[in-house]
Amino acid sequence: MKLFLDSSKVDEAKRWMPVIDGATTNPTILKKDGSDIYEFCKMMDPKPVSVEACGDFITEARQYAKDIPNAIIKIPLLKPYGGDNLQIIKELAEEHISINCTALFNLSQVILAAKAGARYCSLFIGRIDDEGVDYKLAIEDCVRVIDLMYRTNTTSELIVGSVRSVGQFLDAVRAGSHIVTVPPSVLEKLVEHKFSRATVQMFEEDSQSLKQVVGSA
Ligand code: E4P
Repeated sequence: MKLFLDSSKVDEAKRWMPVIDGATTNPTILKKDGSDIYEFCKMMDPKPVSVEACGDFITEARQYAKDIPNAIIKIPLLKPYGGDNLQIIKELAEEHISINCTALFNLSQVILAAKAGARYCSLFIGRIDDEGVDYKLAIEDCVRVIDLMYRTNTTSELIVGSVRSVGQFLDAVRAGSHIVTVPPSVLEKLVEHKFSRATVQMFEEDSQSLKQVVGSA
């Protein structure tokens, strides 16, 4: 399983660099973080960063792909006000631009995104959970079908995103996700444990007192 950071903050990416294989961003994250996407991608290079195209999807996608060597271009399956981006995904994939098809909510959308040529398919499990739908089942289904599709030369990986808790993260890993993208706040909860902290404090204090005993002998 690969782990991505769902953030555009340079300091957070540096903090988590030992364990992350890449990062994912979207316009809402960029607005919240106040980040410069070019600066962020440069710092992450050569690890991949998902950068979302908006407005004129095909023009923005080509521009980001030209300017940022490690960019994976995020294209939503659906256009904001009607229609879909399947044709655009296919064209960009044929130009060897790596696409992360985003804002996917179920297996049928994932299948179509993969068939159109998306290198990554992003399933938004936190938002699925918000609706009361079984996100674990959705992940298991998507992973199984994407793995089956490899047999017919469809080479996508499932990114599980919109992860808001440790429980959702662990569920995503257990369900066999190819990639899970996690915000810094959740990563912080994954690493911390009060008993680990208490244990190493005890060892540290005992080590110091041992040194004093040896030193005074
Ligand atoms: C992932 O690629 C998405 O950008 C992100 O996880 C969305 O998360 P949210 O549903 O918490 O906004």
